[in-house]
Amino acid sequence: MIENEGRPGKKIVTIYDDIYDLPDCRSYFRAMDHAGFRTAHHAGVAFRAVLAELRRLRGLSSAKVMDFASGYGIAAALMRHDVTLGTVLSRYGDGWFDEASTPQVIAADRDWYAGLRRSDHADRYAGIDIAGNALAYGRVVGIFDAVFPENLQDEAPSAALSDWLDTCDLVVECGSVAHMLPDALDRVLRATRTRGAWVATAPIRGNDSARALEVLRDHGLVVETLGMPPFPHRRFADADEQARAIENARARGHDTAGLEETGFFHAQVFLARPAGEVTPVSDWPVSPLA
Ligand SMILES: C[S@@+](CC[C@H](N)C(=O)[O-])C[C@H]1O[C@@H](n2cnc3c(N)ncnc32)[C@H](O)[C@@H]1O
Repeated sequence: MIENEGRPGKKIVTIYDDIYDLPDCRSYFRAMDHAGFRTAHHAGVAFRAVLAELRRLRGLSSAKVMDFASGYGIAAALMRHDVTLGTVLSRYGDGWFDEASTPQVIAADRDWYAGLRRSDHADRYAGIDIAGNALAYGRVVGIFDAVFPENLQDEAPSAALSDWLDTCDLVVECGSVAHMLPDALDRVLRATRTRGAWVATAPIRGNDSARALEVLRDHGLVVETLGMPPFPHRRFADADEQARAIENARARGHDTAGLEETGFFHAQVFLARPAGEVTPVSDWPVSPLA
């Protein structure tokens, strides 16, 4: 199973596509736990800091956040709730989840998330993915207020998605290659023009494609890494995957010593914002480095 940016023959990372679109999240999070998945933790810390600065700068009491290629919604879940990635991943290791039916898992997760919702703001969250079941799970457990099962790499957004994006403040993405699909990114940015959404992404090194970064800059956004060093994404599935990842990272000019060579994919956060809103990270109310 190889993720390939929708292009057969182009191999990037081993994927778990048989568990991306199930009616509940337990198999996905169990596999991610097993694989040492860490990106959502580091990216989530950065995304919360970005959102705090965006709210401050725009004087927003309620921001609109789009989680792109969201899957079951882990990025939005960590932003919206007082919970850590470690807690989410270990939750599904409990034996109760071996036997529970999907409606039982959904009911339990809905109650669990309801008790963890951060009460200090009234932000609204939506998800885009090609995995409709995963999105439906995220919506029904309360991670998302709206979901859009659409493939923006191939098609323009629906009218409903265009409306949502029109007033969107922040687009986030982590844990996938999909965010760096340049055509999808271009369509998202065209649709968010009215408000001028910020984009915070955490691409795997080697997949931080020059073309996607160009798309961000072509839309007038200033792209920065916020001084955040690369962080582990997940363990390589096998030696072939590691060799490919090292080759890809080096092809993008990255030194892989102490990073991919340790046995983990590494990722890095990029923030893209309009030039008029580029404030120094040292002045932000919350540090993305925490
Ligand atoms: C590795 S998963 C990451 C999911 C989630 N962001 C996370 O961190 O758990 C990759 C996701 O990208 C989605 N995806 C693949 N191609 C896509 C596309 N063209 N548009 C939107 N999502 C896509 C997959 O369905 C899957 O949910």
